[in-house]
Amino acid sequence: MNKIPLLFLLCVAMTLTACSKDEAEVTSKPVVQPAEQAAPAVPAAPVAVEKVKQVAKQVTEKVEQVKATLNSGQAIYTKVCMSCHKTGILGAPKVGDKAAWAALIAGGEKKLVENAIKGTGRMPAKGGVSSLSDEEVAAAVDYMIEQSR
Ligand code: HEC
Repeated sequence: MNKIPLLFLLCVAMTLTACSKDEAEVTSKPVVQPAEQAAPAVPAAPVAVEKVKQVAKQVTEKVEQVKATLNSGQAIYTKVCMSCHKTGILGAPKVGDKAAWAALIAGGEKKLVENAIKGTGRMPAKGGVSSLSDEEVAAAVDYMIEQSR
């Protein structure tokens, strides 16, 4: 009596092992696929997976935004604004000229950003690059102010 269930269990165990091996081979392909493609294959928790993916995406986007803003001030200044603001062409306030910038900053940093976006005097709107967003121009102004305090 005792040996039958044992044998039976052994058989079941072997079948299961064989089975899971087969499965492992079959599923080994989707496993190496990117997470987005593999995720829908998990039927037990598709909603949770979607939610996690959404949150992960939002976090990634936020991080990218912050990173972009941190880098873009200097990057945009170098690409767009430096051509005039390094040497003071056309009477542009030179970056690093503390006296000139102190006077400008005294008028309010918001006003400076506004003027940089809309243009003022011989300063072209957005430095002549209309594809820049307002935020990017603001970041460049912030960078210029930081370098000129
Ligand atoms: C074609 C040359 C040129 C480029 C490019 C340029 N500027 Fe200017 N900028 C000027 C000149 C000239 C002035 C002085 C304007 C005036 O008061 O007549 C000025 C003034 C400014 C001021 C002071 C505004 C004020 O309220 O007096 C800021 C801030 C500024 N620029 C930011 C920027 C930023 C940011 C960029 C790049 C996105 C940029 N500029 C690109 C020529 C330039």
